[in-house]
Amino acid sequence: MFKVNPYRPGAGLMPTYLAGRDEDIENIERLFDALNMNIPTQSIIFSGLRGVGKTVLINKLQKIAEDKEIFCTHIEVEERNDFIAQIAACAQAFLRKVSAKEKFRNLIQKPLDAIKSLVVSFDPNENTFSLSMQERELYKSNSLTQSLTEVFITIGETAYKTETPICFFVDEIQYMKSEELGALISALHRTNQLGYPVMIVGAGLPKIYKMLSDEKSYSERLFIYKEIGSLTEEQSYQAITIPAGKLGVDYSKEAVERIVAVTKGYPFFIQQMCQIVYKESEGKYIDSAHVEKCMEEFFDTLDNGFFKVRYERCSDSDKKFIFAMVKCGELPCTISNVAKNLKKDVTSISTIRAQLISKGIIYPVRYKELDFTVPEFTGYIQRLGEYKQWLIEKKN
Ligand SMILES: Nc1ncnc2c1ncn2[C@@H]1O[C@H](COP(=O)(O)OP(=O)(O)OP(=O)(O)O)[C@@H](O)[C@H]1O
Ligand SMILES: [Mg+2]
Repeated sequence: MFKVNPYRPGAGLMPTYLAGRDEDIENIERLFDALNMNIPTQSIIFSGLRGVGKTVLINKLQKIAEDKEIFCTHIEVEERNDFIAQIAACAQAFLRKVSAKEKFRNLIQKPLDAIKSLVVSFDPNENTFSLSMQERELYKSNSLTQSLTEVFITIGETAYKTETPICFFVDEIQYMKSEELGALISALHRTNQLGYPVMIVGAGLPKIYKMLSDEKSYSERLFIYKEIGSLTEEQSYQAITIPAGKLGVDYSKEAVERIVAVTKGYPFFIQQMCQIVYKESEGKYIDSAHVEKCMEEFFDTLDNGFFKVRYERCSDSDKKFIFAMVKCGELPCTISNVAKNLKKDVTSISTIRAQLISKGIIYPVRYKELDFTVPEFTGYIQRLGEYKQWLIEKKN
C-alpha cells in the first residue's frame, strides 16, 4: 500500500515543519511592515552551504510578503546568463499589475521605456519587444548600471505612487556576473536614497558576502547579511519529530540523538535520513536499532544523489584539486597546502581554484583559505574509490 511520508528531501521543497527559523522570519516580517508603510528598508541576503535551507526560507518569506500585499517576484539566477531577462520580466509583471487599475495607467510609460532600454541593450536573447530599427536606436544604452538604475527608479516611483511596495526574491546570487551584481547594488542604492519601497531578499552560497563587498563598499550598509547554518540540537529535534508526530508516529530519545549526530543538524540530511527511516518503519514507534538499520541506505542515497551531482560537474583536474583539499585533513585549508599535495606551485593551480569557486563547489573562507560549499563532502570523497587510488599513486 502507498505510505504517506512527511519528509521532503530535495532542492527547495518546503518541509512539513520549518524548524529553527522563527527569529529570522519575525525580523524580516518587521521589514515588510515598514515597506508597507513606505519606510525605506534595508535589503537582506542569506548565505549558507548547500542544502541548509536558503531557498525554502526565502520562499516562506515570499509567501508572508504576498499575504501582506507586497508585490513579489522570484528570480533564480542560473549559470547561463539570463538575469537581465528575468529582472525585465519581473518589472513588466509589476507594471501589468499596476496598470490593471485605470487610475494608474498614466504611470507606466516611463518605467516601460526604461525596461525597453535595458532589454534592447543588455539581453542578448531579447524577444520581448518588437521594435523597429529606428526605435531600437532610441533605446540604446552603453551602461548596464545606468539602465538598471533607471528601471529601479521608475519602478520604485510607481510603487511609491500606487502604494504597491515591491520585493524581489533572488536565489543563487553567486551565479550573477560581477557587472550585473554591481549594477543591481547601485540601482538598489539609488532607489533606497529616494525613499522608494523596493526591497531585495536574496540567497546564495557563502562566497556572496565577498562578492558583494568587492563590488561596492557601501553594499554593507544596503544589505543585512545573515548566515544560515545547520540546526541546533533542539531545532533538529523538532525537524525530526514534528512531521512524524502529525501522523501519530514517535521516536525514541536515542533514535533522535542518533539522527542528530549523523546528520549534524543539516536540514537536507535530516529530511533524507528521516524519509528513509520513516519509509522503512512499521507501527507507530521508531527506535535507535531501526535508525541503525537505515544507515547504509542513507549514505548510499546521499552518495548517489546529493554528493554525486556535485562531483560529476567537476573535470579531472578539478577532482584532483578536491582530493588534495581532502588530503589536507582539516578544512578550511590554504591554497599552498593544496599545491603541496599536488606537487605543484600555487600559480599553476589558481585557475582550477577559480573554476571550482565559480561552479559553486568550493568557496574562499578567509584570505587564501578554502572550504567545500557542500557539507560533509570530505566524508564522501574519502569513501570514493577514485580518491583511494589517487592517494596510492601520490605515494609512489
Ligand atoms: N528549517 C528547516 N527545517 C526542516 N527542513 C528544512 C529546513 N530548511 C530546509 N529544509 C529541508 O532541507 C532541504 C534543502 O533545503 P533548500 O533547498 O532550501 O536548501 P538550500 O540552502 O537552498 O540549498 P542549495 O544551496 O543547494 O540551493 C529541503 O529538503 C528542505 O525541505
Ligand atoms: Mg537553494
